[in-house]
Amino acid sequence: MISADAVRDFQLTRVPPDFLDDPYPWYAALREHDPVHALEGGGVFLSRYEDAIALYRDPQASSDKKLEFGPKLGDSPLFEHHTTSLVFNDPPLHTRVRRIIMGALNQRAIARMEGDVIRLVDALLDAMAEKRGVNFIDEFAAQIPVEVIGNLLDIPHAERAPLRGWSVAILSGLEPTLTPAMFDNGNRAVTEFVALLKVLIADRRRRPGDLESDVLTRLIQGEKDGEKLSETELYHQCIFLLNAGHETTTNLIGNGLWLLLNHPAEMARLRADPALVASAIEEMLRYDGPIQLNNRRLTAPATFSGKSLPAGTPVTIGIGAANHDPAQFAAPERFDVGRKPNRHVAFGQGDHACAGMNVARMEGRIAFARLLARFPAIELAGAPERDRRIRFRGFRKLPIRVAP
Ligand code: HEM
Repeated sequence: MISADAVRDFQLTRVPPDFLDDPYPWYAALREHDPVHALEGGGVFLSRYEDAIALYRDPQASSDKKLEFGPKLGDSPLFEHHTTSLVFNDPPLHTRVRRIIMGALNQRAIARMEGDVIRLVDALLDAMAEKRGVNFIDEFAAQIPVEVIGNLLDIPHAERAPLRGWSVAILSGLEPTLTPAMFDNGNRAVTEFVALLKVLIADRRRRPGDLESDVLTRLIQGEKDGEKLSETELYHQCIFLLNAGHETTTNLIGNGLWLLLNHPAEMARLRADPALVASAIEEMLRYDGPIQLNNRRLTAPATFSGKSLPAGTPVTIGIGAANHDPAQFAAPERFDVGRKPNRHVAFGQGDHACAGMNVARMEGRIAFARLLARFPAIELAGAPERDRRIRFRGFRKLPIRVAP
């Protein structure tokens, strides 16, 4: 176990060298020695499951990020984006936008998406069979969510190529440490994305899509008898939706395969009993989830693990840390594709809980069910390359070889 002394110096802005490869021993030491750990700048880091749940459910915990992002992002396109999207707002804007989006992400809508995802996954697997060796991230994992979200917003296929790069650049603006290059790339991505959306929205106003399934048409029309979103609000909900559903789901699929490759007995168990695919996806999310941090600001005093915090405290929730808490999960370091119960917080909790969790689950289920059914042997074909960020956890490269 990492010592209490080492934990005292832990900061998200300068993590220890071994943290990016494997943050879980650090999370374990934080849970044990300092579950409400002080961060530079006056905030704290929560690592226990019970505290994470309490904060997610605390109605006095604000998601509004204007105070926090002002000094970091200044008056920039990135600031406008991250402070306008629903995830970083409180009611009333949050409630209004969430209701509009949720209407297009219900089980009926998801069931309608499935056929398309199956066709796409099978085509990607055909290409993989032909090549035998691929970068699993670029040539499989990332292809699925971009299609799903592109369809949700009905973005023409010819316009989809830059979407993934924009998404990565914009979300990188949320990392605890931001380099000038990350800041510039993020701002450029927001500006270019807004330019595309202006054209798409003008077109959709002239020719509205299906209100049941087209999120962009829903966002334009607003709630029945309700207030409409402003043009700027509209842009940033669309950008957020693409970002929220894109890199996260790519990393669910990439991290998931990495876990199966590193736990061959669990891979064999899943192959022998394909009905385990749903619980396997939940375990991938718990064990090494795509989002590791969420943030809130207290607007009233609150107490976590016996420590009282004043109003105004910025609080970071360690999602990966909570998901490995032995007080909640039996043998948390065991990767168990049949784990039950598995009440992980990979999708957050409470009012802001992931609006697309069932879309992501559907993509994951189809991807793994068909991948494993198609190839009896899948192996690593080179050194994987991690995407070395703290908030988002995944791979840039995962070279694999498949045998038909
Ligand atoms: C495995 C994939 C995914 C993971 C791990 C994930 C994770 C999360 C988390 C942790 C939050 C909560 C943020 C907070 O409380 O501050 C969130 C919010 C959100 N997610 Fe996801 N997400 C995933 C996929 C998706 C997909 C596919 C979509 C859309 C189709 C989506 C749309 C959203 C939206 C709209 C919110 C904001 C909800 C709100 O503020 O009310 N996500 N997601």
